[in-house]
Amino acid sequence: MAALTDILHPISVARRVMEKTPHVMLVGEGAQQFAVQQGFERQKLLTPEAEKAWRDWLKTENYAPQINAERRGRPGDKDNHDTIGMLAIDESGQMAGACTTSGMAWKMHGRVGDSPIIGAGLYVDNDVGAATASGVGEEMIRNAASFLVVELMRQGHSPAEACQEAIQRVVRKRPEASRTLQVCFLAMNRSGEIGAYALHRGFVYAICDSKKQDALLDSPSVYTSTQV
Ligand code: GLY
Repeated sequence: MAALTDILHPISVARRVMEKTPHVMLVGEGAQQFAVQQGFERQKLLTPEAEKAWRDWLKTENYAPQINAERRGRPGDKDNHDTIGMLAIDESGQMAGACTTSGMAWKMHGRVGDSPIIGAGLYVDNDVGAATASGVGEEMIRNAASFLVVELMRQGHSPAEACQEAIQRVVRKRPEASRTLQVCFLAMNRSGEIGAYALHRGFVYAICDSKKQDALLDSPSVYTSTQV
């Protein structure tokens, strides 16, 4: 699901595409038409605050994505997370995943991020495991990154090792860029083992299971400072 406007929960429309059509992705006008046919309501989603922020930004048009780091416990700092990825496994070993995003601020019209791209922002293979990503989507698309994490698990790596190796791949491909942008991976294998790794400090993830209800964990990272 990409370039879908005026629909509050595109992820729910994406599920309908999976369940009710022979396709895997709809975009733009056709996606909106399908959503409305499926009973989703068209709504104006632009808030006055967002419009003001955009008009302020237009004065400089300085495109500078911020590293998405949650800065817990630091007064005055704002959280600026974007993507939410979720991986699940049930008692029969059936895996599922979902990935949504607030998108990237101040992007060019028509830009598609990693979240809707299968294998970039999310990949689930019931035979092996699942992975999802957060951060600057271009790096995930460049590296087919969630697919890469799952393939590394298929080769025998643990979820944590697979996430770390995928992050190292991002660094090796674009060492300079990797200092100024955030990329994070979260993975789970068929045994329910979980791992995460990020480029920069500040990526947190939550685990909810019968033993670790609602644990909130800090991901290890290549760089330990969010100041770049
Ligand atoms: N990870 C979200 C995006 O780049 O759009």
